[in-house]
Amino acid sequence: MYKLAVFGNPIEHSLSPTIHTLFAQQVGVKVQYTKELAPIDAFTESAANFIQKGGIGFNITIPFKIDAFNFATQHTLNAQTAGAVNTIKVDGNMIIGENTDGTGLVNDLTKNLGIDLSDKTVLILGSGGATRGILLPLLQQNPARTMVANRTASKAIALANDFAKYGKTCGFGLEKVKSERVDVIINATSASLSGKMLDIPNSVANGAICYDLMYGKATPFMQWAKKNNASKVVNGLGMLVEQAAAAFEFWTGKQPNAQAVIKALND
Ligand code: ATR
Repeated sequence: MYKLAVFGNPIEHSLSPTIHTLFAQQVGVKVQYTKELAPIDAFTESAANFIQKGGIGFNITIPFKIDAFNFATQHTLNAQTAGAVNTIKVDGNMIIGENTDGTGLVNDLTKNLGIDLSDKTVLILGSGGATRGILLPLLQQNPARTMVANRTASKAIALANDFAKYGKTCGFGLEKVKSERVDVIINATSASLSGKMLDIPNSVANGAICYDLMYGKATPFMQWAKKNNASKVVNGLGMLVEQAAAAFEFWTGKQPNAQAVIKALND
């Protein structure tokens, strides 16, 4: 039996136990996947305690992804570039830190939505942890151009510089977002949490695929995209399930059917 969990604070809302239980049923493995509420200042103790009790892996959500990075003794390239860990696998004495967020986004875009990113122009809004987590897998799809726009321009420029060795990317301030056509817009800011849409020209949404990393109710970004003739408006539910699928495969070596779970959650 795989003893697994998700750590966060808060954690009550998490869909991860449902998703992983469905995956386990699909591929016929035994999984016990629990929600673990760690105290804000005691992630390390909680994680160590879980491993002590036989835990072989776990996911990590807000606010512990950087604590999890520090807890891991080994890091995959995804985790290194993200500077954060959302999946840990215990392997003997090794605590391997991985980040499946970017893989989840890319798999949702390419497999579930059928978008070939290789010749596309991609505009990412925001330069925080979420953007850092998705940039490498996105650049590995060889988009024609990947632009990062942020309220604080210096952060976007620094982030683009950090990732320049992995693909064609540039960073600038939100005020420099032009009316020019882009193929895909990804909202990786936390602006939706405050109910705000960013100040960018309405015309950039025209004909673009607009993807919000958040899921749940329609965000101000999604409402804006709909109003301004986006070709497709998508929330982050598919990414959530796909990042879970990548984690599940990392632990068990078995590839679950993410699309069936996305469908089940949408029904
Ligand atoms: P996360 O880990 O979710 O990425 P974060 O690291 O705090 O969170 O980053 C939040 C991102 O949302 C940042 O890019 C932030 O812009 P700044 O770097 O200028 O702070 C962006 N953001 C949050 N609220 C915003 C708003 N109201 N308008 C524009 N950008 C906003």
